Amino acid sequence: MSLTHLRESGATPRVLPVTAQTLLEMKRAGRAVTALTAYDYPTARLVDQAGIDLILVGDSVGMAVLGYDTTLPVTMDEMVHHTRAVARGVRRAFLVADMPFGSYHASIAEGIRSATRLIKEAGAHAVKLEGGRSRVELVQRMTDAEISVVAHIGLTPQSVHRMSGYRVQGRTVDAIEILYADALALEAAGAVAIVLEGIPREVAAEITKRCSVPTIGIGAGPGCDGQILVFHDLFNLTFSPPTKFARRYADGAAFFTDALERYREDVTARTFPSDAESYHLPRELREQRGDRQAHEVLAEREALERLVKLEPAGRA
Ligand code: KIV
Repeated sequence: MSLTHLRESGATPRVLPVTAQTLLEMKRAGRAVTALTAYDYPTARLVDQAGIDLILVGDSVGMAVLGYDTTLPVTMDEMVHHTRAVARGVRRAFLVADMPFGSYHASIAEGIRSATRLIKEAGAHAVKLEGGRSRVELVQRMTDAEISVVAHIGLTPQSVHRMSGYRVQGRTVDAIEILYADALALEAAGAVAIVLEGIPREVAAEITKRCSVPTIGIGAGPGCDGQILVFHDLFNLTFSPPTKFARRYADGAAFFTDALERYREDVTARTFPSDAESYHLPRELREQRGDRQAHEVLAEREALERLVKLEPAGRA
């Protein structure tokens, strides 16, 4: 049993959901788009309630939550599973699900089928896929199939082996020109937003200026229309040293470790659970059983309760 409280249907006030159109209007108005990843129901609820505009169920779930070395092993079934949990926690944010490696690489038809699952089965509002001009036809066909697509260029983690590691991209004149061309081609194909990862801030700012759809940066400097981080990076839950681009807002590892150690100590010392944290037999049954010990505990508790009730009156 868990104490997790699910929302009662229809009991909570309605909120205005963020859509692709909202993100576009935010860019036009110069308002920064806030984005974060989430992979399960409680974190999705917290992120959504904090007013974050876009929640990404990233394939970073593979490293952040599932313990893989890279994002490459993540499967469609895993993405559907996590996206469904997140969707149950989201009320307001625009919910984007990552298309995992191998789910859109073999053919356009396979890409559309995979994206359809994330929308139809899992409840995502849009899907995200990695790559530049080589993905333009797919983005166009998915858009034609009523699927909103967020593009992702620059350091694309699914290309880790082709890139020979996680390296900042766009550092030569040729590479920069390719990034500009990719961004504009993806926008023309129908992408509703573009994630810019691991590129020099000057290049990201120029892409942001040239594109009419919002850019969301991660390790791409402050000149993007919005910023995204991985939830576990924000809370020091990665078991790795801090990265240059991810600011830690809280030490989740220290917070959890402290609580876990205190729990272990309490159980070891038999101070958890206390009497107040235990269920009791009904009084009559205890009395019938002639259970003296229980009887004594009960009497003691009742005396204590009487004392607590009397105390304010006594003081006055
Ligand atoms: O999978 C992910 O979390 C991402 C973000 C880093 C943008 O793609």
